[in-house]
Amino acid sequence: MMPMVKTYQRESIIKLPEALNDEYIPEEVLYRDNEIKELTGGIKAFVNYNFSQNYFLYGSTGVGKTLTAKKLCQKADDEQINIQHVYINCWENHTRMSALNIIADKLKLVMPRRGIAVDELYERITSCLVNQNKKILVVLDEADRMIYSKYAKDSLLYDLTRMKKSHVMVILISNDESLPYYLDQRIKSSLALKFLEFSSYTVQQLKDILKERAKIALHINTFDDEVIGLCAAIASKRGDARLGLAVLREAALIAENEEKKKISIEDVYKAKEKLFELKKRNFDEIEKKIIETIKVAENKQITSGELYKKLNEINERTLRNKLENLVNTGVLTKEEIKINRGNSSLFKLNEKML
Ligand SMILES: Nc1ncnc2c1ncn2[C@@H]1O[C@H](COP(=O)(O)OP(=O)(O)OP(=O)(O)O)[C@@H](O)[C@H]1O
Ligand SMILES: [Mg+2]
Repeated sequence: MMPMVKTYQRESIIKLPEALNDEYIPEEVLYRDNEIKELTGGIKAFVNYNFSQNYFLYGSTGVGKTLTAKKLCQKADDEQINIQHVYINCWENHTRMSALNIIADKLKLVMPRRGIAVDELYERITSCLVNQNKKILVVLDEADRMIYSKYAKDSLLYDLTRMKKSHVMVILISNDESLPYYLDQRIKSSLALKFLEFSSYTVQQLKDILKERAKIALHINTFDDEVIGLCAAIASKRGDARLGLAVLREAALIAENEEKKKISIEDVYKAKEKLFELKKRNFDEIEKKIIETIKVAENKQITSGELYKKLNEINERTLRNKLENLVNTGVLTKEEIKINRGNSSLFKLNEKML
């Protein structure tokens, strides 16, 4: 009997939906060659010569920090570099215990059924690294959460710096350039972080990134340069590839729902409306206070220091977290500035997003 051949009538626009997701790791990371080269060099020097170099990757949202770190881990595997690696998102795992557990899992440590105290866990990890002469790269993404966490103040980093330098390499990632300055002095000097800035993408760079992704994610002839260009232009105010991808994904869905064969410019505009609409969300009391304070400030902008002073009834860490949320959702923009030789952040209100 002839085998049944299933043929697809192509009606859809989206070919590989996961390629439009945030977590997707594309084959090529565009425009980050220098950063990848620097970091790969650091890893190789650590593995081959025990040279210890830890890094701090910073830059605004959607500029490829997480992608670059994940790509590095993938590359280390592909090139069979003799190093273990763990990626820890500190929003999800912000306690010392949960982070150490991830490291222990990676090292395939067998844990007693009775459970284990955090200090013992630390000891076991250290002995495993030393006795088996292993090296591990620990990536701490969204690291502000870990450092500012009330219960885990610096302690995972403290653990990591206490472990032998020839066994542990650390990459910290954050939106907040000033983050390392909040670290405990001993930890800071022991880590000796090398700062690596991820600059925001230009429109042209965004176009290329989105086009590459569209080729993977969408069927052929369902999009053209104009569509990609508009998605890039919308995202270019923030130089944010994630926003560009979100607009493209939404536009593809709109076109698909309307059973079109191609994404049109109008679909992109509708997608933009829809996405920005979603962002107009309900603010909680603290967020409202922050917004109101900035609204009445001179030029509708304020430094973090002034804001903390004005809202001194609110815990500084809570404020920091709320500010970060407001920046991530585009309600505020943040700029690093220097005041009296120190670093500070300047927040501005983006009233279109209210
Ligand atoms: N250079 C690039 N080449 C291809 N895709 C990219 C590039 N930069 C970013 N992207 C894509 O854009 C999205 C956002 O990137 P990523 O998550 O790495 O940003 P981020 O800098 O970590 O942002 P955040 O600070 O908000 O965590 C991801 O889907 C990623 O794949
Ligand atoms: Mg990230």
